[in-house]
Amino acid sequence: MTLTDQFHRKVNYLRVSVTDRCDLRCIYCMKEKMDFLPKKQILTLEEIERLCDNFIDLGVTKIRLTGGEPLVRKNIIELIKKLNIKKNSSNLKEIVLTTNGTLLSEYAYDLKKNGINRINVSLDTIDQNKYNKITRFGDLNKVLLGIEKALEHNIKIKINLVAIKNFNENEFCSIIDWANQLKIDLSFIEVMPMQETDIARHLQYMPLNRVFDDLNEKYKFYKSEKNTGGPSRYYKSPNLSINVGFISPITNNFCSNCNRIRISSTGKLYMCLGQNDYIDFREILRNDYNDNYIKEKIKLALKIKPLKHDFMINKNSKTYMQRHMNVTGG
Ligand code: GTP
Ligand code: 5AD
Ligand code: SF4
Repeated sequence: MTLTDQFHRKVNYLRVSVTDRCDLRCIYCMKEKMDFLPKKQILTLEEIERLCDNFIDLGVTKIRLTGGEPLVRKNIIELIKKLNIKKNSSNLKEIVLTTNGTLLSEYAYDLKKNGINRINVSLDTIDQNKYNKITRFGDLNKVLLGIEKALEHNIKIKINLVAIKNFNENEFCSIIDWANQLKIDLSFIEVMPMQETDIARHLQYMPLNRVFDDLNEKYKFYKSEKNTGGPSRYYKSPNLSINVGFISPITNNFCSNCNRIRISSTGKLYMCLGQNDYIDFREILRNDYNDNYIKEKIKLALKIKPLKHDFMINKNSKTYMQRHMNVTGG
């Protein structure tokens, strides 16, 4: 069984946001004052599992848990444990996690024990003061310890680093060299015009094609074999043993290869990160509908999956996006 959209793209990757909450407030992601959702609006772990089961039956092979920050969700390990069991007896092949890393040192052991072998950690700077500033109050040491613990447990780490104008551009080489010493891959990410934050997008935005060209002078990049099925295009360098990736939705659109859909923590299925359309599954899950009905709705969602995002950032552009990144975790 394979899910295919109206443009014949095969969709086998489900991103699940398990909470809209986060213990940080990155300035390009959220406003300083955010209203988080009341608990009764958030899917229970059982409801999330049931939705995942239906997607897996329909051909989903990879599930990524995101947030907000997924590790702040109470009993998250219970959900991972249940999903992990399905890996032996269903289409599901891989469960992965995207986290800010603040709680990773506490959770690394349980995550590894329950089948998480690959984690993406969001980290935009390795300077303590700057980290504190970009996250509004975070402690870099907690994240570094989390990464260390995860590596000790043989979890493969990838760093996600949002390129932010006038903030981390002078650190790119030192971050690459730091990651290279730890032998962990990293991806640069272009700022996306999700719902407005406190700083105008054009003041944050750095086109990654220019970042690539600058770094290329030093690293002499050539194409890597690495392909996770995600949007990152990876490169190797004669000077490095790691892969350096670039996620450039604006300067190098990758929508024609899109293989993913995402569920928000309230059960909304978003067919595209860069569009507002969704199908709400929460009331379906909370009323007396059977799994066949859920599957039919999922197939319908695939029929209306958009071709691409319409992201654009310039001085005069206003975003059309009605949600912040924490609704779907990317
Ligand atoms: P891998 O499995 O390691 O390939 O992960 P990934 O790169 O697919 O996922 P990750 O959660 O690390 O996402 C990295 C960044 O890419 C996040 O900032 C996401 O917002 C962004 N991203 C992920 N999927 C999409 C997508 O479908 N469209 C766009 N525009 N950005 C995406
Ligand atoms: N543009 C690009 N990346 C973003 N993230 C959060 N908000 C944005 C944005 N507006 C990143 C986080 C994390 C991932 C889930 O999305 O830093 O790496
Ligand atoms: Fe897929 Fe939309 Fe992301 Fe493009 S922006 S890759 S269509 S989810």
